[in-house]
This record gives sequence, C-alpha cells and structure tokens, in this order.
Amino acid sequence: MTLAPDSRAKQDWLRVAGISKKFGNFQALQDIHLQLKKGEFVCLLGSSGCGKTTLLRIIAGLEVQDAGQIWMGSRDIGKLPPVQRNYGIVFQSYALFPNLTVADNIAYALRMSRDEKARRVAELLDLVDLNGTEDRYPSEISGGQQQRVALARALATSPSLLLLDEPLSALDAKVRERLRQELRRLQQKLGVTTIMVTHDQEEALSIADRVVVMSNGAIEQVGTPETIYREPATRFVADFVGRANWLPLSRSPEGKACLAGQVLNIDLPAGITRPVLFCRPEDVRLEAKWQFGSSAMMALVEQVDFHGGVRSAALSLCADRDIRIHVDVGPNDACYAALQTGKRITLTLPADKLRVFSDTSL
Ligand SMILES: Nc1ncnc2c1ncn2[C@@H]1O[C@H](COP(=O)(O)OP(=O)(O)OP(=O)(O)O)[C@@H](O)[C@H]1O
Ligand SMILES: [Mg+2]
Repeated sequence: MTLAPDSRAKQDWLRVAGISKKFGNFQALQDIHLQLKKGEFVCLLGSSGCGKTTLLRIIAGLEVQDAGQIWMGSRDIGKLPPVQRNYGIVFQSYALFPNLTVADNIAYALRMSRDEKARRVAELLDLVDLNGTEDRYPSEISGGQQQRVALARALATSPSLLLLDEPLSALDAKVRERLRQELRRLQQKLGVTTIMVTHDQEEALSIADRVVVMSNGAIEQVGTPETIYREPATRFVADFVGRANWLPLSRSPEGKACLAGQVLNIDLPAGITRPVLFCRPEDVRLEAKWQFGSSAMMALVEQVDFHGGVRSAALSLCADRDIRIHVDVGPNDACYAALQTGKRITLTLPADKLRVFSDTSL
C-alpha cells in the first residue's frame, strides 16, 4: 500500500529527505533519507568520519545542507535557524560552562523568573538524580555527573527532539553502561524523540528502537537492533555489527552453496562474485558425536577461551584445516563439556541463520 503524502507526514514525525553535504570536494553526506516516529529512540551508528556528527548538526540547524529538506510533519524546517527548532543538544565533548555552577549550567537557556527557574532546575536535578550538586562547579563533579548535567541542560526547555552526539564516549565502561540504561529510562519517561550518535555497536543495539548504520556518508541499513544483527543487509553491516564467521564458498553444480566440499542447504544467488558465508558464532551447532546430516562437518577444536559463562572456541574444518570457525557455547549446551582443545566434534550450520555476501573489500 502506498501512502498519500499527507498521511505519511502524519505517521513520520520527522523526515530527513535527500540530505547531501560537501566540504570542499569531500562528499560528507550523500542523499540521506530517514524517518522518525514521535517518541522513537534512534541511534546513528558508524565508524569515525562516516558523517554522523555532520548529519546531527544539519538536523540541529548548526550546519547547512547543500541539498535536501527536513520535515516536521508537513513543515520544512530545513532552513530554520537552530533557536527556532528548539532541540536539546548534547555535544561530543561535554562543553559545560566551567565558570558556572551546576544549577546555572542547567538554567542557561531558560527565560523565566528566578523562582520559576529555581523550580525547573530542582525538577531537572531530580530527573537526572543529581540533587545536592547544584552549587558545585563542573570540575567538582565526576565525568558521569557532568554528562548528566549536560543532559539536564539539554532537556531544560522541554525540547521536542533530543540530539545526542556520543554523550557517553568519554566515560569508563561501567559508568557508561549505567548511564546508558538511565538515559533510556529517562527518554521513555519523557517520551522525547531522540537521535543519538555512537560508534559503539553494543551501545546502539542495547539502547535504540531503531539503528541507522552509516558508512562513507551514506546509510547502509535502517532497522531494529534485532534486524540489524540477525539480517544485515550488506557485508559492511554484517561485519561492523557483532562478531561473525566469514567462510569462503564455492558453487555446487545445482547452484547450492558449498563449503569445503560440503553442500549446504542454501542457494547461491546468481551474480554473486567470490561468495562468502556469514554465520554468527552462537548460531553454529555442535554435537559431541558424529552425526549424519545434510550439512554436518567434522571439525577439530583448536583453542578454547572462557568468556564469563560462555566458551568461545576456534575450530578448523577437517576437510580444509585452513578454514577456521568461531563458536560460542553456553553452559546449558550439551556440547559445553566436550569443547576441549584437540577434540574432534561435529558441526552443523543451520540454513536459516546463514547469509551469503560477495567478498568485496570493505
Ligand atoms: N567543517 C568541516 N570542514 C571540512 N571537513 C569536515 C568538516 N566537518 C566534518 N568534516 C569531514 O567530514 C567527514 C564526516 O565528519 P563527521 O564529524 O560527521 O564524522 P563522524 O561520523 O561524526 O566521526 P566521529 O565518530 O569521529 O565523530 C570527516 O571526514 C570530516 O573530516
Ligand atoms: Mg562525530
């Protein structure tokens, strides 16, 4: 069903349409299309220099696009100055004012009476769980607390859209994980539509309703964390998100994928050059004893590492010892105990979890 432009505008609260941006001769963004629903939490994910901050700055009105529009409902806001967009922004570095107290930092953009300001600041301090720090200066609170002040400041004017540029990247892993959960809870409580930039795929997958994977100024895939992880649309996404085995394939006479002489129960689409098989380590099935099956293969356990409850092993195929396969096995798996270096083991690759890509260089 195709939607009439009007009803589409109603469904999509924010619509980025065909945004492109060049810096000199360098194409930083190329024809970016993105739709957000009200209340959604969307993460822009990609490696350094792929254009995440540039896209966020264009949405905020801090950078001007060469082409394209930004629609809020049926209104093109793509040329409005930042103040008229009223978005809350937290930048890549905290950028609190060092000479202002926590309370004054939070109240910075508020235009109201002193009493009202004090009430609003108290409310926001409560929201980000920083009661009692109002009279301190940024240098007198921790990095995690500074980020929460930055967040409170961004939320002060009750913005309709919250734009976060790597708000957690300067923090250590533990604080980062806690703040990530807090941020998500806060966002859901307030229902504020949020776009967060990160280059940390784990962060994006754990926090977002939808993830936008970017590379070289273009969008590779937009989807729920589950879809991005389970059904990567491109080799780049499959490689960038999560861990994966990449196994060289040949074509059987019937057009099936063939790994080390073993025909697998998946078709090899025509037109794929240098096919490689994608398979997540947790999707490889193991049996301690030899099992006959359509895709059963004998493998040798080369190395086993213990990773907090999961055994991670490197196997090599007996039919081709150069082909290495990584597997993750949990303690409830029947094969957990049998996974020992030097042992032989049966391996099957479940067809429904496999994907085939062309082995283009990334
Ligand atoms: N004002 C500018 N002038 C020239 N080039 C720029 C400018 N701003 C960004 N770029 C270039 O555009 C590209 C995208 O930059 P951007 O800051 O959007 O990347 P990013 O995805 O946010 O990276 P990071 O994860 O490192 O923050 C980079 O190659 C950068 O060098
Ligand atoms: Mg950036």
